[in-house]
Amino acid sequence: MRVTVYREAHFNAAHRLYRKDWSDAKNQNIFGKCSYPHYHGHNYDLEVGVTGTPDPETGFVINLDILKTIIKEEVEDYFDHKNLNIDIPEFENTVPSAENIAILIWNRIRKVLHPDLDLKIRLYETRRNFVEYDGN
Ligand code: NI
Repeated sequence: MRVTVYREAHFNAAHRLYRKDWSDAKNQNIFGKCSYPHYHGHNYDLEVGVTGTPDPETGFVINLDILKTIIKEEVEDYFDHKNLNIDIPEFENTVPSAENIAILIWNRIRKVLHPDLDLKIRLYETRRNFVEYDGN
């Protein structure tokens, strides 16, 4: 009887897709306008899914107040209104693509989530462009 509980969250952040070890021409060729030097912003929407067996006493897979606090501390406080390339150490030498942001979010939540619970992340960069990561 495993159930998945979802909570939505939101943050704004700036980035550019760019590799320091590539020429400007190659960055432009591969990443196009996403590589423009003066950065651009996204309104990221996040869905966090936590799967587990409901506790027989509370009926909860996870108390949503706890999940809300985890998302605030591990995602919103860390990413909101940041320049991902400059402010987030994990992206100093890693492209802050939606894929890599989702992996980082998953890793940050995973380390504070009870080991019996499974975690999946869906990150929307735009309404039409989104990625999923479940740790596999
Ligand atoms: Ni972008």
